[in-house]
Amino acid sequence: MGKKRIGILTGGGDCPGLNAVIRGVTKTAIGKYGMEVIGFFDGFEGLIEERFKILRQEDVSGILNQGGTILGTSNTANPFAWGIGQGEKRQLVDVSDKCMALYQDLGLDALICVGGDGTMTIGGKLTEKGANIVGVPKTIDNDLMETELTFGFDSARLAATDAVDRLHTTGQSHHRVMLVEVMGRNAGWLALESGIAGGGDVILLPEIPYDIEEVISVVRKRSRFGKRFSLVVVAEGCKPRGGEQVVKKMVKDASEPRRLGGISHQIAAQIEERTNIECRVTILGHLQRGGTPTPFDRLLATQFSVKAMELVEENTFNHMVALQGNRLVAVPVEKVMDKQRTVPLDSPLIKAGLAVGASFGVKMD
Ligand code: F6P
Repeated sequence: MGKKRIGILTGGGDCPGLNAVIRGVTKTAIGKYGMEVIGFFDGFEGLIEERFKILRQEDVSGILNQGGTILGTSNTANPFAWGIGQGEKRQLVDVSDKCMALYQDLGLDALICVGGDGTMTIGGKLTEKGANIVGVPKTIDNDLMETELTFGFDSARLAATDAVDRLHTTGQSHHRVMLVEVMGRNAGWLALESGIAGGGDVILLPEIPYDIEEVISVVRKRSRFGKRFSLVVVAEGCKPRGGEQVVKKMVKDASEPRRLGGISHQIAAQIEERTNIECRVTILGHLQRGGTPTPFDRLLATQFSVKAMELVEENTFNHMVALQGNRLVAVPVEKVMDKQRTVPLDSPLIKAGLAVGASFGVKMD
């Protein structure tokens, strides 16, 4: 039997730590198991458009601490719904058989799919066509099922907490209400953790539709008791009770086309009008996704990649590596597909936040 050959791609939105995984997989595959590695460019786009290169040890040297992904990524490329044509003639076609033909022609024994729920869902569907998939969970949203952590989250949490800290001081000087909007889609992990770590006075999560009266009452009370500033940490996916999320734009061809953002402007206008306290809004956006991975994310990404290679070596396919109870495990990809892990209402962090006086925008015990 010849050398085993594996492919690797990074799909969906990027995050710090992707390069650490590409490095970990490539070094382990070549150095430990004597395998060959092919990197596909721009996620599934590279598989569809046959754009790839052989990765050697030297290609992944010096990238551990670099943000982004040397392979590039795409959050619209989907072999089961690939957009072709322009304007009215544009249609989504299934090119998965073509991808599988390339997989066979390249003689791949496995494909490592590094990504979030969208990437795992596509990977899971490719397994039904005969591909051997191993998933590695990434996302700053930390919303993948079956794993307590995804890499990328810690780095984003640091960026968001740093922003909350900075806004704290200027808010205090000017006696303002500072609203900081963080990413996370429909999951409030980033808002919850940066909010508690940064001492947010109000933390608004997608999982707890807020009551604007309660938010205003917290700001008023603080002001009455001499705290003339407040920090409101807003998840981009939060919504008022009985209301809707704010959609910033729709992305053509994406499996989840809605891009959220901007709700903090609505909240700021309501607070300002009702309290007469000046408000300022900062939307962190992609600042949370770029830049250097934290040591924690480098360690997690490296361990995930080594575990992924163990799975390939022992022929355990169609699984995603995961962190459960501080142990690295393998979970069937189908348990992750088309699902999102949101913040449970009985989260110990919500309890801790309440105990130290944070409000989640509703009356809670
Ligand atoms: O899933 C990661 C994420 O950064 C979300 O937090 C955010 O809603 C979305 O991606 C933004 O997507 P895009 O990069 O397409 O604007």
